[in-house]
Formats: sequence, C-alpha cells, structure tokens
Amino acid sequence: MDFAHGAPAAVRESRGHAGVGRARVVAVTNQKGGVGKTTTAVNVSAELARRGRRVLLVDVDPQGNATTGIGLDKAQITRCMYDVIMKAADVREVVRPTSIPGLHVAPATLNLAGAEIELVAALSRELRLRNALAGCLADYDDVFIDCPPSLGLLTLNAMSAADVLVVPIQAEYFALEGLGQLTQVIGLVREQLNPAVRIAGVVITMFDGRTNLAMQVVAEVERYFPGLVFATRIPRTVRLSEAPSHGMPIATFDPKGRGAAAYAALAEELLARA
Ligand SMILES: Nc1ncnc2c1ncn2[C@@H]1O[C@H](COP(=O)(O)OP(=O)(O)OP(=O)(O)O)[C@@H](O)[C@H]1O
Ligand SMILES: [Mg+2]
Repeated sequence: MDFAHGAPAAVRESRGHAGVGRARVVAVTNQKGGVGKTTTAVNVSAELARRGRRVLLVDVDPQGNATTGIGLDKAQITRCMYDVIMKAADVREVVRPTSIPGLHVAPATLNLAGAEIELVAALSRELRLRNALAGCLADYDDVFIDCPPSLGLLTLNAMSAADVLVVPIQAEYFALEGLGQLTQVIGLVREQLNPAVRIAGVVITMFDGRTNLAMQVVAEVERYFPGLVFATRIPRTVRLSEAPSHGMPIATFDPKGRGAAAYAALAEELLARA
C-alpha cells in the first residue's frame, strides 16, 4: 500500500472501505477494562492522520480518556457526544481539531454517563450513533470509535455504527475471560442491528515476549479467533502509558520508540485488511 507523502488523494483511494467516498467506521471494543482500547483508538487514529488521511476519533466512553489523551481539556468542552446521542446535536458542532493535522475528535465528558441510562427508554436506542455519524462520513476517510468497558447501550451504538471492529486483548492471565460474551453480543448485533459488521482484527496489547505466559495467551487467542489476530503485537512500554498525560499520541511523544513503531505497523495492517 502506498503512503507516499504529498499524495493524500491516492492514499484515500486506497482505503479499504467499499469505495463509496465515505469513511470506514472502526469501533475499538472489548467490555473488559484496561485492555488498551483507548491507547489503540488514539494511536491508530493519529497514525492514519499523519499519513494524510482525514480521521475522526469519536469518544463514546464517559471516562473521556480518548478526549484528554489526544490533548483536549475537558473543562473547555461545553458540548460532547452526549448532546449528539441524546439531544440530536449535529456531530459537526461538537467536533474539535487536535494538534495532529487531519485528526478531529468528537469528545466525551462525564455527561455521557447519563446517556447509558436515558437511552434505555429512547426511540431507536441502539441506532442513535449510527444515524448521527451518517451526516459526516463523507468528510473523513476513517472514523474510530473508542468504546467504554461495558456491553451497554453506548457499546451497542458503537457496534451498530461500525463497519468493522478491532478487539484489543491484553496479553495476560484471564485474557480470554469475557470473550464468549463479547462474541455473543457481536452475533446479536449482526442478527438484529448491523448485519455487515465484522471483526477486522484482534490486537494483542501490553505484550512482553520474554514471558511464557504472554506467548501462551497469544496461542490461545489465535485458537479462539483463527486468522483474525493481527501480526503486529503492541509491546508493553512505559512511554505508551505516559503519552496520554501529555495529551500526545505516541508518534509525537516518542516517535522513535517501540510503541510508535508498533502502532504504525498496526495502522498499516488495518488499512490492508479492513
Ligand atoms: N502497550 C502498553 N504499554 C504500557 N501501558 C499501556 C499500554 N497500552 C495501554 N497502557 C496503559 O494501560 C492502561 C489501560 O489502557 P487503556 O486506557 O488504553 O485501556 P482501555 O481498554 O481503554 O481502558 P478502559 O476499559 O478503562 O477504557 C492505561 O493506563 C494505558 O496508558
Ligand atoms: Mg478506554
């Protein structure tokens, strides 16, 4: 695939989605907490923007970690994805630029926690996000949705809005716990809400190849998701955990480090696959 600088149009044409001039929507999801969803959503988004693609990072986690991790100050945010999902605000009204050219973010604040409850009684409660994003898909090449650690309505909204899913799995004991429930919910979403959605890939995160345990976990995940595990594994590095507190993606914070190299490779693999 060609990522030559100065050829963004060519890069855009090469994107994987069915060539209809609309963004491909990727939801980064796993109901397990702390597995690297936000780190993956932020860094793959930033990497694709650095390659000249127009990228929107949508934060649907009330924790707002993607929002702050990419450098926004939550205190400055008056309207967020809560207003889009619950108050029918236009997503373009809440979108903010970031320090990375080509990367925009649709932020989340704690207000969004209310949506998880309010959605229960709402009309088209699983399709709010899909409908809200429809109007801006022509403006981007890629949309990444950072999901909360639950299988609640915000995650169902993300899965319903997505073309493909990326599932981060931490290379640790109990890594497979909860995957049955996750695949069951993905099956239900395919049956009832979004028949075309599929897993683009499973990414092993916080990987330490020096331990037998990590190697065993990779083998088990490969058995569970045959053919779906990305060849790129994200190493455990302190730099990746430090970057969000500086509001920077790893490509800016530590461009020569292992984390930046890994997320660049993952972005490339995802483009080739999705
Ligand atoms: N490869 C890595 N190496 C070291 N630390 C990492 C790595 N990936 C993520 N972390 C750190 O691990 C913690 C959890 O990561 P992250 O926030 O991306 O997970 P998450 O799945 O989004 O969590 P949550 O479920 O709470 O939303 C964070 O402190 C993050 O900085
Ligand atoms: Mg997160």
